[in-house]
Amino acid sequence: MRKKIVAGNWKMNPNYPEALELLHYLNNNIPREHYNVDILICPPFIYLSEAQKLFNRTDIYLGAQNASSYTNGAYTGEISASMLKSMRINYVIIGHSERRQYFGENEEVLAKKIKLCLQENVIPIYCVGETLEQRNANEQFDIVEKQISGALFDLSAEQINKIIIAYEPVWAIGTGVNASPHQAQEMHMFIRNLIMNKYDDTISRELIILYGGSVKKDNANELFSMPDIDGGLIGGASLKGEEFVSIINTTKNIVNK
Ligand code: PGA
Repeated sequence: MRKKIVAGNWKMNPNYPEALELLHYLNNNIPREHYNVDILICPPFIYLSEAQKLFNRTDIYLGAQNASSYTNGAYTGEISASMLKSMRINYVIIGHSERRQYFGENEEVLAKKIKLCLQENVIPIYCVGETLEQRNANEQFDIVEKQISGALFDLSAEQINKIIIAYEPVWAIGTGVNASPHQAQEMHMFIRNLIMNKYDDTISRELIILYGGSVKKDNANELFSMPDIDGGLIGGASLKGEEFVSIINTTKNIVNK
């Protein structure tokens, strides 16, 4: 059975006092009984250590939003997977569409990042998704296949077992327009089949695939109830404590798949 995950991606938000306030709110208000759902918060790097000190509970995980494609050394401004590991940060978002779009990250670089994270036992949440133009041209499956095969298919079965994939259609990120549960399910099933064809049925059945793109408390339950959707990667709504907690609460009646 796959576990469900509700993850918050704060992106380059907010400033320090607001971050402290939000962390306090989450620490105090995320329900302790969260029904087989793992909660993950991915704040900017500089708040990770503070968040770690502040969370006086072990049921909220922390993740980073990026890691370097280099191991260590003279790479000014970079943060390595081994640094994350040494801080006990066990998750990292890799290949978010904003990294691809604004920082030129391609599958070749992302494959390196993923391998370094896996070497350090930091779990990569690998993001894929098509733009609106690509969907309008009906290229979404080709694009996602290329993103997955290009960055993941060199991994061994043991390594791919540790990966989480997030399907985040670019046209749904921060726009208020989420993929319909049907559209998301269709792509999640496609991704699961890609993994099955390349690896095997057990690996594909156990792969956690999150949906991201304008998830809110009003659409979370319907999306996360779909057979191949195992939770969400949440941007904007994760910056509002109450909304994020409501999203967590909507998952309580969803059975594990
Ligand atoms: P959004 O972002 O929830 O604000 O659409 C999701 C993401 O980019 O991870």
